[in-house]
Amino acid sequence: MPKVTIDGKSIDVPAGTTILNAARMIGGDIVPPAMCYYSKLKTSGGYCRTCIVRVAQGSAANPTPIPKPVASCRTTVADGMVVENITSAEILEARAGVVEFLLINHPLDCPVCDQAGECSLQDLAYENGKMQTRNEFRRREFEKIDIGDYIQLHMTRCIMCWRCVKVAEQLTDGRVHGVINRGDAAEISTYIKEAIDNEMSGNMVDVCPVGALTDKTFRFKSRVWFTKPVDAHRDCPKCTGKTRLWFKGDEVLRVTGRKDEYGEVVDFICNDCRYHKKELTDWVIEGPSKINRHSVIAQNHYESLRAIQFDTRTAQIALNRANHQVHPVLDNVKHGLGSGALSPNNLLEPQMSLPETMTEHDVYFDK
Ligand code: SF4
Ligand code: SF4
Ligand code: FES
Repeated sequence: MPKVTIDGKSIDVPAGTTILNAARMIGGDIVPPAMCYYSKLKTSGGYCRTCIVRVAQGSAANPTPIPKPVASCRTTVADGMVVENITSAEILEARAGVVEFLLINHPLDCPVCDQAGECSLQDLAYENGKMQTRNEFRRREFEKIDIGDYIQLHMTRCIMCWRCVKVAEQLTDGRVHGVINRGDAAEISTYIKEAIDNEMSGNMVDVCPVGALTDKTFRFKSRVWFTKPVDAHRDCPKCTGKTRLWFKGDEVLRVTGRKDEYGEVVDFICNDCRYHKKELTDWVIEGPSKINRHSVIAQNHYESLRAIQFDTRTAQIALNRANHQVHPVLDNVKHGLGSGALSPNNLLEPQMSLPETMTEHDVYFDK
């Protein structure tokens, strides 16, 4: 197994592993950002250049450095390779340049963009961007294209990462969209303006790192940090049925795939689960989603409320309503208490205490 050292941390990895994936195996701050690579999509990567690193030593056998920054998502490790990411001032400067390029044509849309709060470009710009633009030219403009009932395309926000095209190629039958034109004129478009209409097309929204492709059924309904993500599942004949529900009060505002720590979907989901199952009764709730504490979504802090306990008053409420169909776990979610704290077993334990400000109505609701 080749040994690679990244920012002073060494790891043995299987032959053929890329530098980016080796860094992910090590974890932490040394992992380069990736705007186009997506581990679940074959041939992704190599488009955006945000993942660039410096190879200070090519291998043990040939210690010569590689003279230019390389895309870590497309470069495989060699035994004895030494890589610099955040320890290289040259790379940090180059990455700032990449961000500047990505933002050259990008609109100042964050206040109205549905991706705000979970946007990889926002994070990238915050961590690697510069405060000012040097661009004096007019930003690119595009004619609006309607690509169907479920997905909104804002071409001005697209960074040409190609992920949505890979989804269309690899997850759907009958791809009807792709990149047309090249260079500055390149754009995502449907074939002769056909609508995107197939069972897995919604995954394009999940893989899009920016707000270029957004969910029309969620558009302008809420800022994402006012919603509460909850993991849930259902028996679905078309996909795994493992999803994330985004609640506002009792209402499911949107359904998405679950994402891992690198913002990648764990299981792709079908459009049925995503767009047509927005009733609580459609789902089995598993509990609050694990959200990175640096994310603005974590500002809800609802997991910290797990510790709240319930008193005999609560137990009485539970008993009184035992003949009704109640959804304590769902309401628990509604109030951000964590599913564990309000399991039916907990409800019947007399030593628990309910905060005075909460009423019976706050705790339960009927199906
Ligand atoms: S895509 Fe991201 S950076 Fe661009 S406007 Fe939307 S939230 Fe802002
Ligand atoms: S629309 Fe989104 S996913 Fe598709 S290429 Fe543009 S940025 Fe990437
Ligand atoms: S993530 Fe490597 S080039 Fe985009």
